[in-house]
Amino acid sequence: MVTVHHTAEQPVQSSTDQPESSTDQPESSTDQPESSTHRAERTGRALADATLKEIIAGQEEIFVRRQPNSAHLAEAAQQHLAGGVTSSWQITAPQPVWLSHGHGSKVYDVDGNEYVDLHGGYGAALAGHGHPAIQEAVTAQVSRGTHFAQPTPNAVAVARELARRFGLPRWRFANSGTEATMDAIHLMRSITGRDLIIKIEGCYHGHHDSVQVSVAPEPEQAGPAAKPYSAPSSTGIPKAITDLTLIATFNDLDSVARLLETHQGQVAGMIIEPIMMNAGIIKPGPGYLAGLKTLLHQHHALLTFDEVKTGLTVGPGGVTRQEDVQPDLITLAKSLGGGVSVAAIGGTEAVMDHVANGGYEMVGTFNGNPLAMAATRAMLTEVATPEAYQHIEKLRLQAKTGIEQAIAASTLSAHVVTAGAKGCVVFATEPVTSYRGFLGVDDRYSHAHWLYQHNGGVFLPPWGKIEQWLISVQHDEADIDRLVRNFAAFAAAIHS
Ligand SMILES: Cc1ncc(COP(=O)(O)O)c(C=O)c1O
Repeated sequence: MVTVHHTAEQPVQSSTDQPESSTDQPESSTDQPESSTHRAERTGRALADATLKEIIAGQEEIFVRRQPNSAHLAEAAQQHLAGGVTSSWQITAPQPVWLSHGHGSKVYDVDGNEYVDLHGGYGAALAGHGHPAIQEAVTAQVSRGTHFAQPTPNAVAVARELARRFGLPRWRFANSGTEATMDAIHLMRSITGRDLIIKIEGCYHGHHDSVQVSVAPEPEQAGPAAKPYSAPSSTGIPKAITDLTLIATFNDLDSVARLLETHQGQVAGMIIEPIMMNAGIIKPGPGYLAGLKTLLHQHHALLTFDEVKTGLTVGPGGVTRQEDVQPDLITLAKSLGGGVSVAAIGGTEAVMDHVANGGYEMVGTFNGNPLAMAATRAMLTEVATPEAYQHIEKLRLQAKTGIEQAIAASTLSAHVVTAGAKGCVVFATEPVTSYRGFLGVDDRYSHAHWLYQHNGGVFLPPWGKIEQWLISVQHDEADIDRLVRNFAAFAAAIHS
């Protein structure tokens, strides 16, 4: 058994003896004498660059020093695990973190370091770790059998509760977000008899062919802002498939209208994260989601809200209920199963009749698996309760105001965006409304901040500016205090 001890080191303050100038700064391009304002800005940028570099190097050194067992495991794992990890997103700089166990709001690495877990398994741990209700449900089900490939009564209870929360009457189950969005897209195509789909630039919907398009395109791949390209986001996907996915801009109804007009009668439907959560957090403007539904329905095309990430985390009935816009299909996964792998696809009567009538065969050996259904029922009825959402709301406010105060006391250009249990710091002054704005956010600040939090005993999701924190039902004020304290120390280090 691993002995648990908190070994978080104090984040180092950046050194004050900054280099005088950075050699990789571009020279002034005009032959006019440089103005003093311009020179001051340029010097400020060079100083910020040097400070950031220094902070990242210093924090990476501490990171590695604290985790010798992780380093050994990472190296040994290379032999039989491809890339030394079980998913490519577990490869983090400076090295992957190997975990031993989790309990309540904390996780513990194999070196015995404790972290407030705000990574939440990429947004799947709304229940926290070892929640008594999930433990009880799973333990009871294990002794009664973990797999039959036949429906069990819990599936009815789960579907009924999802219908109540999200307003869509009929449901089916799958095992991951990827499977759920794949089924949703198959269904939209099957019902309409059309091949094209519309997807938003910068949204992620899993790793199947139709949606691995323009997930996080580099500026040179993305095409003109007014007419984004369908840029492949993975190798191994035929161009013929990528070409069937048309790309629109978040918060821009005209970009969808144009695609529907240009491809009259060919678009099956659109999939969208109703709050973008794979590009920080980008919220829909007033009327945007309702406008999408109207537009798509005018063209006899369908609308899917991918609430895999937002589902139970932004509130009990997702963005769907918050914004009061009912799509034709909803996909859920991540936090739904209380930490057990499960996904759900909800649909209107019209959409799900197509499944019921055999128009589309929605299948899977583990769909509605009894273990997953038992955990999901407990999650919905005993964990994600109204009281739990009230508790999370208090912590959300504590995190937001605490970090905002630290930003105000610093020279950082940053702001905080939250949505229920999810939140992030965007290292830019202006609000981001679509992927093109997100591209302009400097990722180095997010990485430096991540390292600072990690060494200070808070595990945020890696991948810098893309991801968000997740507050679980088991976090408390002391956990959020640690997050805010670390942020203030980071802001002070950047400031100095
Ligand atoms: C919005 C969204 N949809 C779908 C997925 C895919 O889910 P999974 O990783 O369970 O396949 C993700 C994963 O991050 C996601 O964020």
